[in-house]
Amino acid sequence: MSFTIAIDGPAAAGKGTVSRAVAGHFGLAYLDTGLLYRVVGRKVLDGVEPVEAAQGLVAEDLRAEGLRGADVAQAASRVAAIPEVRAALVDFQRAFARRAGGAVLDGRDIGTVICPEAEAKLFVTASAEVRARRRWLELREAGSDVELEAVLADVHERDARDTERSEAPLRPADDAVVLDTSDLSIEEAVAQAVAAVNAARDAAPG
Ligand code: DC
Repeated sequence: MSFTIAIDGPAAAGKGTVSRAVAGHFGLAYLDTGLLYRVVGRKVLDGVEPVEAAQGLVAEDLRAEGLRGADVAQAASRVAAIPEVRAALVDFQRAFARRAGGAVLDGRDIGTVICPEAEAKLFVTASAEVRARRRWLELREAGSDVELEAVLADVHERDARDTERSEAPLRPADDAVVLDTSDLSIEEAVAQAVAAVNAARDAAPG
């Protein structure tokens, strides 16, 4: 039986950490769908046309280096607003979601557009200030001397683009459990996510 867990939310809300932990807990495969948009954004920075880049995407591209940088994140957010780019990435995500054994996908539109029939849906969020501070600490640990204000501006800019675009905007699915991690430790966030998935599984037919 396939079991799909859809986890959406804004940048730096702790989605990736929660998703990886949930996938590990339930023994499911995990896809960070932001990476698909980052691959396309990376290729566009290299001069490839966005729709062509999305149509030509293959699984190995997700292992490329240099997909985590702020320039690639901004490029990803821009290409993600192009409907033809999103359309070209749908089949890849749905095939992953329905793989035997089940899967966790995280992104912005998994519960609303890609897998509206997912057995469990979570919307992981946190205040913009908390998200910016977390990202800033990560960047500083990685040796960057970027200012907190610059990271906060970047978070606001991506939030605006991700929530205001007309195609698949970022929003919780009506039946998603909203998990605000602003005041939670990683362990608390993961425990609440696992509990929400267990509740959804117990409620699922069959
Ligand atoms: O999760 P991330 O920061 O790696 O995502 C990079 C960008 O990709 C983000 O600004 C919005 C976009 N994205 C999207 O539109 N839909 C998804 N399912 C995942 C990411």
